[in-house]
Amino acid sequence: MSRIGLPVLETPRLIIREIEESDVYDMFEYASLPNVGPVAGWEPHKSLSYTKSIIKMFRNKYQYGQLGVFAIVLKESDKMIGTIELHTYVKNHKAELGYTISPYFWGNGYAYEAAKAVISWGFNELELKRIECTAFVNNNQSNRVCEKLGLDFECVRKKGYMLYDGSIHDISCYAITDDEYFKSIRS
Ligand SMILES: CC(C)(COP(=O)(O)OP(=O)(O)OC[C@H]1O[C@@H](n2cnc3c(N)ncnc32)[C@H](O)[C@@H]1OP(=O)(O)O)[C@@H](O)C(=O)NCCC(=O)NCCS
Repeated sequence: MSRIGLPVLETPRLIIREIEESDVYDMFEYASLPNVGPVAGWEPHKSLSYTKSIIKMFRNKYQYGQLGVFAIVLKESDKMIGTIELHTYVKNHKAELGYTISPYFWGNGYAYEAAKAVISWGFNELELKRIECTAFVNNNQSNRVCEKLGLDFECVRKKGYMLYDGSIHDISCYAITDDEYFKSIRS
């Protein structure tokens, strides 16, 4: 399968481009912290070589018909501060938004700014009909980002997610359709 090229997206403060091997140090800095991965469903990274293998896996996603993963980079310092992706991609239909920001940069609107650009790409270029986002019910930050983005709260999927440690969690489900998105940017 040919590689689905990720574009470079630009927002006022961010460059959003495909993750690269050289992002390993910036990624490890936040992905190794205990308050980041588990909230999003993944185990904290224990070594740089593990982070390297994750980046390699991200860059190979196209082999499975998936879109790949963007790095979120601050324009002013060229620092990579997180990732964002449209995963569980079904061509001409839908995908799920996933994002992580380094805690050193939380609360500055970076997740919102990056997600807005990725959603625009999803509807305008990929012609998706629906973009979803899920998070643990108590992940107030992520659920707030969904609200800011104009995604509708649809339901709680009770016991909908098993974490890597075997624990089971309720998850909140948000979504926006293409019709809702285009109506919102016109108004
Ligand atoms: C979720 C995450 C990406 C948000 O990143 P961010 O750049 O800080 O997000 P933003 O600044 O755009 O928005 C965060 C919002 O949550 C709000 N918030 C922060 N703590 C909160 C809390 N405890 N309760 C409710 N809202 C909270 C912020 O005030 C902000 O809303 P506002 O703009 O209305 O003030 C980041 O917290 C993260 O990486 N968490 C760990 C990984 C994760 O949970 N990923 C998502 C899994 S699906």
